[in-house]
Amino acid sequence: MSNDKIWKSNSTFILAAAGSAVGLGNIWKFPYMVGSNGGSAFVLVYLLCILIIGLPIMASEILIGKYGRKSPINSLKKISLDFNLKRHWKYLGVIGAFAGVLILSYYSVFAGIAFSYMFNIFPPGLENPSNYSTEYFSNIAASPLKLIFWHSVFMIITCMIVGYGVIKGIGRSVSLLMPILFLFIVLVAIYSSLIGDINKTMIFLFNPDFSALTPKVIISAMGQAFFSLSIGMGAIMAYGAYIPEKQLIGKTVFLIIILDTFVALIAGIAIFPIVFNNVDLSINAGPSLIFETLPVAFYSLPYGSIFSIIFFILLSIAALSSAISLLEPFTAWMEERLKFKRKIIVFVLGISIWVIGLGSIFSFNLWSEVKIMGFTFLSGLDYLTNNIMLPVGGFFIALLVGWYLPRNLIKKELGTNESYLKSFFFCLKYVSPGSILLIFLYSIFQ
Ligand code: TRP
Repeated sequence: MSNDKIWKSNSTFILAAAGSAVGLGNIWKFPYMVGSNGGSAFVLVYLLCILIIGLPIMASEILIGKYGRKSPINSLKKISLDFNLKRHWKYLGVIGAFAGVLILSYYSVFAGIAFSYMFNIFPPGLENPSNYSTEYFSNIAASPLKLIFWHSVFMIITCMIVGYGVIKGIGRSVSLLMPILFLFIVLVAIYSSLIGDINKTMIFLFNPDFSALTPKVIISAMGQAFFSLSIGMGAIMAYGAYIPEKQLIGKTVFLIIILDTFVALIAGIAIFPIVFNNVDLSINAGPSLIFETLPVAFYSLPYGSIFSIIFFILLSIAALSSAISLLEPFTAWMEERLKFKRKIIVFVLGISIWVIGLGSIFSFNLWSEVKIMGFTFLSGLDYLTNNIMLPVGGFFIALLVGWYLPRNLIKKELGTNESYLKSFFFCLKYVSPGSILLIFLYSIFQ
């Protein structure tokens, strides 16, 4: 493998993986999921899932990618050939590539809304900014044309970066922008805690309330853990293919997970104090939560509109660096398989994803009453990908690495001490696949 296909340094891999992990999932989705799922119970299950399910699966994905040095599907193929396993393992990569495409179709719609908020400046002198804010969002959601416009903008930029090549396209930009985003969210969180109700927020997020622990909360928390860490579909595996040979996986995974979790929790701390302080805002708002809440916080800040613009630019960039990783596995696979130019593949894929995205757009307006088993197109797609496809993918990745690959290989790649390794193996073999299975059964036979 030539050098231009390896990340420049260890920290570039960490930043790229964190760039994939940290995105709308942390700043947009985590807070609204916490809000609609009763707060601390959700947070607790989420954190547990990150640690006992997410960590071992993320390490396994990196390991497979690093071993295969190809697209997820072909890395899976290579690893199963080399260790005399059945060829079926590669279908794990196929399902993952499709999951990525499906997720991107609605991810792009919300990222598009985030884009549009760069240009959303509230007029001065409003009596009731929270009301204005909720109405502003409803107006966007009610307009298929506006949503289609921003969805198109986001898809075009994503496709351009992926078409250009992931390593060239993101290595550099991500290393600069991620730290800035990080700092900014911390600042917003400090400001919100000062002007809003931080005590109520802390109780809501961290004071365990087991009465809220329903099957729906548990399966959503697991789905969110997969979504937020970008695991279960090969995104991290695809990036693992470019990891420097000497980089050890154990420590690397820890860092990525800590970064991702930190950003999600800080986003919660940035948003809930404002919600609790405004009777017109509701924690149950769902996907519109941050779009209704954050502008209100910025409104009360001196030079708030400038902060608001900067914030939504950073959020859009975080969304872009995640979207790239959703498109990469399918693209890399097609590139190896069809031998077409990358740009042509991305063009065709991009158009298909754009079309699927229309279904999610219409779920806000034209099709909002069209429901199958209680799901709109958008909520159905969200459930299918996050709560089913990603955990199923993760389950089999854990099985493959935990049960079928030689322990020595894993030991060498992780590079951690014996006691960490022991607990790692225990989690990978039993705890993570076992909990995924249990959570599935529990949510079916509740
Ligand atoms: N993790 C990203 C976020 O939190 C979204 C994402 C990127 C993703 N790649 C993924 C989700 C792969 C699932 C699988 O915004």
